[in-house]
Parts: sequence; C-alpha cells; structure tokens
Amino acid sequence: MTDHCATLRHDLAACAAAPADAPRGLPGQAYVDADFFAHECATVLRRGWHCVGRADELPQPGDYLTLQLLDEPVVVVRDDTTIRALSNVCRHRGMPLVEGRGSAKRFVCRYHAWTYGTDGALLRAPRMENAGFDPKSCRLPEFHCTQRFGFIYVSLADQPPDIDAELAGLSDVIGPYRPEEYRIVHSAQEVWNCNWKCLVENFMEGYHLSVVHPVTLHGYTPTGLSRKGPNGPGFTSYFANYPNNIPSRGAGAPGLDEAARNRSSLFAAFPCQVASVAASLLVSLNILPLTATSIEVRWTMSVYGDELDDETIRQRISLWEEVNREDREKLEAMQVALGSTHATGGPLAGEDYEGTVHDFLLWLARQDAMAA
Ligand code: FES
Ligand SMILES: [Fe+2]
Repeated sequence: MTDHCATLRHDLAACAAAPADAPRGLPGQAYVDADFFAHECATVLRRGWHCVGRADELPQPGDYLTLQLLDEPVVVVRDDTTIRALSNVCRHRGMPLVEGRGSAKRFVCRYHAWTYGTDGALLRAPRMENAGFDPKSCRLPEFHCTQRFGFIYVSLADQPPDIDAELAGLSDVIGPYRPEEYRIVHSAQEVWNCNWKCLVENFMEGYHLSVVHPVTLHGYTPTGLSRKGPNGPGFTSYFANYPNNIPSRGAGAPGLDEAARNRSSLFAAFPCQVASVAASLLVSLNILPLTATSIEVRWTMSVYGDELDDETIRQRISLWEEVNREDREKLEAMQVALGSTHATGGPLAGEDYEGTVHDFLLWLARQDAMAA
C-alpha cells in the first residue's frame, strides 16, 4: 500500500471520528486516487453485495445478462431452479462466453466451442481426447447470488457478509411498498465520469434537490421537506416528502399509509445501490465502479400494478432521464475539481440534508477497519 493510500485511510477514519455536530466529507483525493481505488476494490467493493438488476429482467429459464463486476466478467442467468451468477470466462483459454443480454439453453464458447449448461457444468469439449483431461474440473466458477425485494444481488467474496444482517431494518422503510411486486418497464446503462462514491452520496442527499433539479423535482420533492430516514448496518435512507398541494402520485400497494404515499423513500444498499421507491414507481441505480474516476450506471424503472398508463410511464422515464442528466453534469464537473489540492473535504449539512452521507462514510470507515 502506498503512503498516499495509507493517508486516505487515515482521513476516512478521521471523518468517521468527527463530532456528530460537525460532520465532514472526505478529501478530494479519496475520489481521484488510483491506489485508493485499488484498495477499495480489494476490500469494500469485492466483499460487498452488488445489485445487478431486477429478478423480472430474467423471467424465463435461460434468460441471462452480463456485466463486468470489478475484475470479474459475470453472467447472471436464470436456470430451472434459481438465478445464478457464473464466471463469464471460458475454462479453456479465457474467452468471454456471452455478451449483452439474451436467452440460451447452453453457453457455447465462440472460440473452440466448449459448451456449458446454465448451471455452469461443462457439457461438451470437442476433440479434447487427452487422457488427463477431466471435464468435471472445468465447471464455471459460481459467485454468491441472492434476491431481496425483487432485486438480484451478487458478491465476489468467498464469504460475503450476511445480507439480511446488512439490510436489517430496511424492510421497515420499503417493505410497505411491496417492492418485490413491482414490474420492470425500463432499463438503461451509461458510463459516467465520476467516482462511485460521488453518485452514492449525491443520490442519497436531499440537500441538492431544489438547486440541481428546479424544474424536474423541486415541485414535488423540495429540499426543505427532506427528512432523514432510518439507517442500519449496511444501508441508509431518507424521505423526500411531497408538498400538500400536489396531485396524488398513485395509491400503490394495499395498506400503504398516507405518509408513505406522499413521499419518495430513498435508500442506499451499500456499497453501490441507490434507489427511490414511491407508491407507483421504483427506480434503482446500480453502480458498477470501472476506475477511480468512472462508473457504469445501470438503472431500472419498475411500476406497481396497472395504475400508471403507458403515456404516464413514458413521461416518468423521460423525467428520470433528465434528472440523471442533471446529476451527471454536476458530478462530472465536480470530479475534475476534486483533483485540486484545495479539495480538502468540507463540512456537511445537518441530519435531514446530508446525514445519509455521514452514514455512508461511517459504514466505509467500519469496512476499512475490518480490512486492516
Ligand atoms: S477459449 Fe473457449 S473453447 Fe477455447
Ligand atoms: Fe439529484
């Protein structure tokens, strides 16, 4: 580990130790430095559970999607019994087996035609007649993969943390919306030139809403009505409350109370998922870190029931495209400035506005201490 990286780890611990009434952000180098990013990849990012999409993106056996999760090419595939995350690297000489999304009964490598089942077993290896060749030893390695709230989560760790312990308490915040019942209506992927933590922090604070989104969001989620929500071992949340005078945004799930119906509940499932759930709409941004200064963002929009007609859904998709564009523009501009020697990490606003950012830094510091 470089001295620089050690200094940044020390800075992280110092942020976590700041007095509760004087929280501070991390210095800019923590969002820029390649060695610190490599350290995060080997620790907090490799260990964590990453949301890779919605279970209903893969409705039929054989449906798959692929992604690059840190150093690992991964194919997430539904087979007859479950959804699995397999290494997308041929056991022969390392070709990626599949790209993009699709549906397949078997994965046939396009280099020498080794053929694998959707459970990862090697089924066929043409002309491999060496006596010492053992096909059973050539299964595709499998990563831990599980589902919660209708989302698919993958961890690259040999022994990932207990996801239910990490998310303990999150169901109190989002459970009443019945997130597992939402159906997907849109997905997109984009590359943003910013550090992964910048988007986690940005999405999770209500402080910028009225400034950055004066037309798109301010009318129904103004900064002044942001309120901190519960946090737990591996998540945080806040409520973006709606003013009294706006039209209903939908009834949502049976039994959803008035307060939940009149706000968007935003949560981060650390390290890399940020999402907003409201009565009729669920948007999740799944962040795939690429380098210290770039990320792939895969975002999905899902709706509850049939309350929203097609035209309204189209409008919501365009609204979120615009909101994401507004955030991306700010984060990409800030990313350049974070390289300054004067980006030393400033004071954070109070609990209702940036308490979630503080929760995230505390979580990062705890993870880092465990990795020490
Ligand atoms: S690399 Fe896949 S069959 Fe050769
Ligand atoms: Fe925003």
